[in-house]
Amino acid sequence: MSIAVTGATGQLGRLVVEDLLRRGVAAHDIIATGRNTDRLADLAERGVHVRQADFTDPTGLTEAFKGARKVLLVSTTTVGERFDNHTRAIDAAALAGAELIAYTSTLNAHTASMILADAHARTERYLRDSGVPGVVLRNGWYLENYTSQIPLYLRSGVVPGSAGAGRVSAASRRDYAEAAATVLTAEGHAGSVYELGGDTAFSLAELATALSAATGQEVVYGDLPAERFRSALLDAGLPAELAEVLADSDLGLKRGELFTDSPDLSRLIGRPTTTLTDALTGALGS
Ligand SMILES: NC(=O)c1ccc[n+]([C@@H]2O[C@H](COP(=O)([O-])OP(=O)(O)OC[C@H]3O[C@@H](n4cnc5c(N)ncnc54)[C@H](OP(=O)(O)O)[C@@H]3O)[C@@H](O)[C@H]2O)c1
Repeated sequence: MSIAVTGATGQLGRLVVEDLLRRGVAAHDIIATGRNTDRLADLAERGVHVRQADFTDPTGLTEAFKGARKVLLVSTTTVGERFDNHTRAIDAAALAGAELIAYTSTLNAHTASMILADAHARTERYLRDSGVPGVVLRNGWYLENYTSQIPLYLRSGVVPGSAGAGRVSAASRRDYAEAAATVLTAEGHAGSVYELGGDTAFSLAELATALSAATGQEVVYGDLPAERFRSALLDAGLPAELAEVLADSDLGLKRGELFTDSPDLSRLIGRPTTTLTDALTGALGS
């Protein structure tokens, strides 16, 4: 009967576990997994099964998924290691007898050419060929990717990027988490591929305008060649791999790879997605 969630020590996985509990899934029917399980102590106290699962350890993964009828595979963080990590997790879930694997992919994974999309597209194919029924949750960009940068935007008066006039269909982590919880708690989703994005896409210039309106301080969008954007991210202290991936993702945004007009996300969560204005206001108030 149980539902296993990977990455429960991280932000998205934690929100999924919380949402499952909110929907009335019994704590003893949830298996929350991650590497650093100290972060899950409060969930263990509430009766959730907490299990250590490292995607580099196939045996440990199979143990962690024991008894799980459904597994939510939250994509891991290190881009270069993702595909191998994900194949080990899919194999382990299959060995443990899972009847459904839901995977958090990226928007337009089948057509996008940005660096990030490759491991997701390959994982989707591996899942399809695994013999275990799968659901693909092609999550768009998080609104939090931008709201977490508000202090930087306000300090410099600039939203920097290489996205041109491209539009991003961003939604909050909470929106994506609720969609995952829906898929995990209802029948009939096996075989589906959902393109999940915010109801109203925006350009980075529109982001700057919305931030100006929310704060009363003028912020403009500064479009940079990708190489200069990458250098700016390095100067801001980001690790080299992340700076490269983010600059490359902005080029993908410019090409429309982070845009969708699919209503899948609001349909799955049964309400409109979080708006940019609400996300900015929430972040500024916290
Ligand atoms: N859509 C977007 O805009 C966007 C933006 C950023 C990232 N993402 C992707 O979405 C995923 C979830 O986002 P998030 O915000 O929840 O990220 P997060 O807070 O960084 O959480 C990442 C989770 O992955 C787990 N993890 C990483 N490597 C692992 C491994 N080898 N074995 C086991 N667990 C491992 C971490 O576990 P421990 O902490 O226990 O090590 C953590 O629970 C990210 O991992 C990334 O792939 C999407």
